[in-house]
Amino acid sequence: MSDLNFIHRYEPPKSGSKRTILVLHGTGGDENSLFPIATALDANAGVLSVRGKILENGAPRFFRRLAEGVFDLEDLRFRTHELADFILTASREYGFDLADVVAAGYSNGANIAASVLLLRPEVLASAILLRAMTPFEPAEILNLSNKAIFISEGKHDPLVTHENAEHLAQMFRDRGASVTLRWNDLSHNLGRAEIDAASQWLTQS
Ligand code: MLT
Repeated sequence: MSDLNFIHRYEPPKSGSKRTILVLHGTGGDENSLFPIATALDANAGVLSVRGKILENGAPRFFRRLAEGVFDLEDLRFRTHELADFILTASREYGFDLADVVAAGYSNGANIAASVLLLRPEVLASAILLRAMTPFEPAEILNLSNKAIFISEGKHDPLVTHENAEHLAQMFRDRGASVTLRWNDLSHNLGRAEIDAASQWLTQS
């Protein structure tokens, strides 16, 4: 029996592409919400779009929080490993290589992607983190020198402070990752220009 224990949507890569984009939605989204973003990032890439298992007043999320921006760290750790194990199983079931997996997460989805990079980096090659914040302060210092990370933030975002985003970028740099941090004249909402910039970054990385 398949052990693919997250609700998800999968489409294989097209035209000889090997890349798989792992799509992780924000609070209240699902596996369909950000599918068009994966296509805008790379129309030929495979897409594995996952629905978070936590429900907050009916809104799907990837981990519990105690308040806005205050995370349940025990649950975050558990859910991070659970998602990493799922990515591993999906790579075997669908036949893609972990070295070709790019996470693309927005908000809560970007936060769990950041957490996966910090705790289980072997399941991702690179990541596009849209409106990410520092998920936790890791005790472990894992080597991220083979990771490329694109972080895109909103200058007027009330949820992610400038310091918090800079701290996250620095945490990845301190572990050897190649980090691009882009600031947009936006709030927590996404804009087309940053998706285009992320797509271009992906082509070059
Ligand atoms: C989170 O809980 O991950 C962040 O506050 C972002 C969000 O509102 O989902």
